[in-house]
Amino acid sequence: MKIIIGNDHAAPEMKWEIVKYLKELGHEPINFGVDSRESCNYPDIGEKVGRAVVNGEGDCGILICGTGVGISIAANKVKGVRAAVCSDTTTARLVKQHNNANIIAFGARIIGIEAAKDIVKAYLDAEFEGGRHQDRINLIHAIEGYH
Ligand code: RB5
Repeated sequence: MKIIIGNDHAAPEMKWEIVKYLKELGHEPINFGVDSRESCNYPDIGEKVGRAVVNGEGDCGILICGTGVGISIAANKVKGVRAAVCSDTTTARLVKQHNNANIIAFGARIIGIEAAKDIVKAYLDAEFEGGRHQDRINLIHAIEGYH
């Protein structure tokens, strides 16, 4: 899978580790994040990754900032993005199965690298279940103004 990955200055090291892990799993990570600790604005990264995922430049996205929250809030402002902050593997599995999340986010200041890798794997291994969950996603689309 092509996976768009973005991060702010709180997370270059964790991003590099996740990029390496994605390659080991046979995926193609595309780096939209920053590679230095110089202060930057997480909304810019969240928006860029959100737009890229919605435009089909990748199959899904991974966002990392200090908490995972700011960058996911920004991504979720892009129509069609369903970005979910995950700090555990159960959430990571369920956001794919039930919410068909197209982006997961986590915080480099919140979880360690092993938890982050497990979260990525749980999300990528899970499949959307459709059915009543699709009906609910359609309701989300209605809020966004889809017809
Ligand atoms: C940057 O210091 C920090 O605010 C950011 O990485 C993130 O945690 C925001 O939600």
